[in-house]
Amino acid sequence: MLKVGVIGTGGMGSRHVRNLHNQTPAQVVAVMDVDRAQAEAAAAIVGGCTVYTDAQALVDDPEVQAVVIASPDPYHAAAALACIAAGKPTLCEKPLALTLEEAKQVLDSEVAGGKRLMQLAFMREYDPQHRAVKDVVEKGELGDIIFFRGIHTGYALPQARTAEDIIINSSVHDIHSARWLLQEEITQVFSQSVPSDPQRPETSKFVSSHLTFKNGSLGVLEEYHEAPFGYQVDVELIGTKASIRTPRAVWPTMMTAGKEWKFIDDNWLMRFDLAYIYEVQAWVQSVIDGVPTGPTTWDGYAAMVVADACVESFKSGKVQDVPELVRPSLYA
Ligand SMILES: NC(=O)c1ccc[n+]([C@@H]2O[C@H](COP(=O)([O-])OP(=O)(O)OC[C@H]3O[C@@H](n4cnc5c(N)ncnc54)[C@H](O)[C@@H]3O)[C@@H](O)[C@H]2O)c1
Repeated sequence: MLKVGVIGTGGMGSRHVRNLHNQTPAQVVAVMDVDRAQAEAAAAIVGGCTVYTDAQALVDDPEVQAVVIASPDPYHAAAALACIAAGKPTLCEKPLALTLEEAKQVLDSEVAGGKRLMQLAFMREYDPQHRAVKDVVEKGELGDIIFFRGIHTGYALPQARTAEDIIINSSVHDIHSARWLLQEEITQVFSQSVPSDPQRPETSKFVSSHLTFKNGSLGVLEEYHEAPFGYQVDVELIGTKASIRTPRAVWPTMMTAGKEWKFIDDNWLMRFDLAYIYEVQAWVQSVIDGVPTGPTTWDGYAAMVVADACVESFKSGKVQDVPELVRPSLYA
């Protein structure tokens, strides 16, 4: 049985603990959170396991064979570096790191080790809606894809988010979707924001990022993070033979007096309920098989490079070139 440790046991980490326990053959043997009570609550989900408040101690635990990193964004890189140094397969939440420099350190460290150890938690690859779109793309039914649209909405948080946080934490998912579905790199971006507080231009309620792909295709990411209606993630592809888009809301259509309508999910844990299960099942199986699958450290890094260019574009108000990257042979 694969024995797993989970770092960070808030909303996402607890969901991973529950899914590992209920939906996979893996055993959660250790959990870590700086908030001990939070870690103990996660341990209780699996009927008890070792509780740590130090991430390195969990990684060093000889019983822990593989690790899930679900701590807040600023702590991903250090935990990922520790897991790579320990040679332990890891499922790391997005983004790969908070800064591009840290993301590069993680990439370089995995490449230096010569072995793919990390999977990035870009779980849309496991969402049935996105999977269906990918299948149509792979069959060539769209012809040449000339346009990508990613729509990503969520309720307002108690404190206004910054444009930079929306890009690094949220758009990074949509950037990965665009690269994954088109199998093309993004070469230019132009990002603009509608401030949440007009007195503080760094705050944002809406970020739009226009993309140019290497083959000349175009794209746009619409990030509305003070949406009054709830959480939605949709993609649309326009091709030369056909177009495809996921439904605006995944629930069945209701009919009541004089109107037709759908429920909208409150948050990602509801919208991507199945994707999180399929993701962790695939990761556990890949670790058991010793054959890495799914989004890689390279995907995490490449998405960060584009996100970084979007932040630069937002700050400068200009179109920003995305540096051309050379994919290490480890990720060929
Ligand atoms: N893939 C997805 O769809 C998805 C969705 C939501 C969040 N996330 C990512 O998951 C991560 C966690 O997000 P969340 O929604 O669970 O946040 P959260 O605030 O619900 O939980 C974070 C937890 O981490 C703990 N923590 C704080 N500092 C820590 C540290 N140094 N080491 C370990 N734990 C620490 C906190 O005490 C808290 O329990 C973030 O990186 C986020 O970007 C991914």
